[in-house]
Amino acid sequence: MEDRGEREEPAAGLHFVGLKEDLIKAKRSFRTLEGRDILVLYHQEIFYALDFHCYHAGGPLQNGDIEEFDGKLCIVCPKHKYKISLAEGEGIYRATNPYAPVPTTRWFSKGIKQRVHTVTETDRDVYVTLSHVSRFIESDYFQGEKGKVERERM
Ligand code: FES
Repeated sequence: MEDRGEREEPAAGLHFVGLKEDLIKAKRSFRTLEGRDILVLYHQEIFYALDFHCYHAGGPLQNGDIEEFDGKLCIVCPKHKYKISLAEGEGIYRATNPYAPVPTTRWFSKGIKQRVHTVTETDRDVYVTLSHVSRFIESDYFQGEKGKVERERM
């Protein structure tokens, strides 16, 4: 990553992840912040940051397609096609309830499965603050040692 000019020390917890113009050009960038692998993504003029490894089995999200499902912009994991909302990290899926009087197919939520992080922009720079949600979120597993071993086996 090229640094062009002076930059003030960011506030505590804020990690510089790149120059805006470079991240926009790259569209998807891998970063490791405090030992955590993150995907910084630029799509339709918005930056997102989320855990790099998919919550399902640790697949790399970097090459996932981005599509809208049920009104939510999602990344589709290239490995088994799980859909994860970019804004919330929600796992969503489409299914039919065979026990319903009239079986209809609709979207369901699995809840938050992928940890998402906060992106802050200045005119020139982009920063990420890691999520401090204290509860376990499934994608956390693939950031740890066991998950790393599992990822490398697949
Ligand atoms: Fe992402 Fe299975 S690893 S869908």
